[in-house]
Amino acid sequence: MADFVGAVDQGTTSTRFMIFDHGGNEVGRHQLEHQQIMPRAGWVEHNPLEIWERTQTVIQTAMNEHGLAGSDLAALGITNQRETTVVWNRRTGRPYHNAIVWQDTRTDRIASALEREGKGDVIRRRAGLPPATYFSAGKIQWILENVDGVREAAERGEAVFGNTDTWLLWNLTGGTEGGVHVTDPTNASRTMLMNLETLDWDDELLSFFGIPRAMLPEIRPSSDPRSYGSTVPHGPFTGPVRITGDLGDQQAATVGQVCFAPGEAKNTYGTGNFLLLNTGTDIVRSKAGLLTTVCYQFGDDAPVYALEGSIAVTGSAVQWLRDQLKIISTAAQSEILARQVEDSGGVYFVPAFSGLFAPYWRSDARGAIVGLSRFNTDAHIARATLEAICYQSRDVAEAMEQDCGVPLECLKVDGGVTVNDLCMQLQADILGVPVSRPVVAETTALGAAYAAGLAVGFWKSTDELRENWNESRRWQPTWSPEQRETGYARWKKAVGRTLDWVDVD
Ligand SMILES: Nc1ncnc2c1ncn2[C@@H]1O[C@H](COP(=O)(O)OP(=O)(O)OP(=O)(O)O)[C@@H](O)[C@H]1O
Ligand SMILES: [Mg+2]
Repeated sequence: MADFVGAVDQGTTSTRFMIFDHGGNEVGRHQLEHQQIMPRAGWVEHNPLEIWERTQTVIQTAMNEHGLAGSDLAALGITNQRETTVVWNRRTGRPYHNAIVWQDTRTDRIASALEREGKGDVIRRRAGLPPATYFSAGKIQWILENVDGVREAAERGEAVFGNTDTWLLWNLTGGTEGGVHVTDPTNASRTMLMNLETLDWDDELLSFFGIPRAMLPEIRPSSDPRSYGSTVPHGPFTGPVRITGDLGDQQAATVGQVCFAPGEAKNTYGTGNFLLLNTGTDIVRSKAGLLTTVCYQFGDDAPVYALEGSIAVTGSAVQWLRDQLKIISTAAQSEILARQVEDSGGVYFVPAFSGLFAPYWRSDARGAIVGLSRFNTDAHIARATLEAICYQSRDVAEAMEQDCGVPLECLKVDGGVTVNDLCMQLQADILGVPVSRPVVAETTALGAAYAAGLAVGFWKSTDELRENWNESRRWQPTWSPEQRETGYARWKKAVGRTLDWVDVD
């Protein structure tokens, strides 16, 4: 058998291709950013053709750099930014519109109407999600209503929908010449259109958004021994590679962190933050503002579910300091600047740029920096930004405890922000539990590789994968309980100041 497994990680800001060996060690990678298109306040788009171009380049570059051919890969996995919506024509391969990104709030009226019309509870019960701009269904509806000719083409089955996993799978397997139109239950569970119990599209949910079933991909296991398809000769690989793994990025990171038992959780710090808790084969309904989602489905095994706390803006708040406020020139400088002061000097920054996600789900919220006095400097704002990442994670961790009644003992973390030592120390201080980071921080790509490799027997079992996990760093809490509670109470007050800002009705 071939020595390696490949994984495409199609993220919000960039696309990377990674190659792993049997020990789960990184053998090679290449990564390219794509354009963030923001035509109006609250709108965020990507160009699907640019993403496909970038995907081909990162694959070819990493494979060539290491002198590898398709035959060196036992399988290929795909993981992706979730919810982001592409609608394209399967005959021409052309997208009808730019991809509408998960952070985009243009569908706030669609989302608030669902609640007013009493459809919210049906969506919560069937899909496990609160009506929000975040998920794909409203974005599909928006394209159907605003782009000429799409609805007719959708009814004929010619205009099709996919998240970026589906878009890339279709292109990699031949596109207009026989490309497969598939997704997996983790991605499908973020559309607001899939029934969590049956793992099938739900006709009543489809009717809420006026979406024809013919547009939707087939839902296949996240790790599929039957293969979704193989790469074609005119694609980025020399020689066919079987594609056998597909997971949304946060579920992939949960797999990469080997959270295979109920009660195991991880928190990923990227553009946003996503805390997922494995709840086993039970569908746990949140009372505290979390989402119920599919964690993974491997082969013919029963699906495994998760509770999820999604936070829209964490690492992207650091990017905002860099690109919009321009008080730092690299993300890493946020740590240097924040270390110039001992605390945030009473400043709290609630980066509710896309409204607030878990556990609040308030699309009427917008960002605020509060508690300012003449004494404050850019260093306080940088420190408040890092604290905001941690306080938002605490909000979600509290909700998790409420829902499952088990206190968190240690938080497994990963993602780009976790190189920020100060931020991770603040996280341990604000939560009051240790924070632990593994050696392989690219858990998203690793999880997709694991799913693909399990399907073809490259790895025999999840136990074998557990042996690949090793801790690289651990942070212990240092704050007194009093300091922790005072800080958190202020944070809650700051959150209160951001609510009811935008009129969505
Ligand atoms: N030293 C640092 N301190 C704070 N934040 C940082 C640091 N380095 C990177 N980041 C932040 O981490 C984020 C990138 O993390 P990561 O690479 O995990 O995200 P990503 O997986 O590319 O995101 P996505 O998948 O959403 O595209 C950026 O938002 C960046 O601002
Ligand atoms: Mg990512």
